[in-house]
Amino acid sequence: MRLPFFGSSRNPVCRPMMPEWCRSAAVIHKSFFERPWSAAEIEGMLRQSDTVADVATDGAGRALVGFAISRVLAPEAELLTIAVGRSSQGAGVGRMLLSAHLARVSAHGAGHVFLEVDEGNASALRLYRSFGFQQVGLRPGYYPRKDGSKATALVLRVDLH
Ligand SMILES: CC(C)(COP(=O)(O)OP(=O)(O)OC[C@H]1O[C@@H](n2cnc3c(N)ncnc32)[C@H](O)[C@@H]1OP(=O)(O)O)[C@@H](O)C(=O)NCCC(=O)NCCS
Repeated sequence: MRLPFFGSSRNPVCRPMMPEWCRSAAVIHKSFFERPWSAAEIEGMLRQSDTVADVATDGAGRALVGFAISRVLAPEAELLTIAVGRSSQGAGVGRMLLSAHLARVSAHGAGHVFLEVDEGNASALRLYRSFGFQQVGLRPGYYPRKDGSKATALVLRVDLH
């Protein structure tokens, strides 16, 4: 049975992203993506008024375990990224973070959310589909891979209301 998160020192909690989390977010981002975002880039996004960004931290708020960033141009939003550190994956953090993040994106006026995801990213696809995201487009050759080949991106959309 998966236990709910109560905000103890062990169990993660979600909160809006503050600038002090940008370095840790960049470290997590770099471990997954071919074109990593620097801490300065993430901080720049946070300064944009159309950015909604959330983190999952340990309950004590000392360590970052995941983050999600969207751009909201109401009534539309784009989920730019969501990532959970490898050692924290598979324990419900991604689900909790996406749920909290979509609620905040909705509160900022978004009625629907788009995202792009590598068609081979099974864990992200399962997560997104469980939130009701459905495929609305396909972008062949979108993501560069380390071996020089390119992966297809699926464009997904969910209605929030
Ligand atoms: C996608 C990601 C954010 C999920 O975070 P997580 O904390 O591991 O996810 P959770 O433990 O909350 O699991 C949520 C759901 O994701 C899916 N999922 C998670 N890990 C999975 C895996 N290894 N295989 C298949 N599905 C998986 C499941 O549907 C799961 O729900 P369930 O446990 O009820 O079946 C995480 O895997 C990640 O950071 N990946 C690397 C970055 C990335 O690819 N981001 C998406 C870019 S578009």
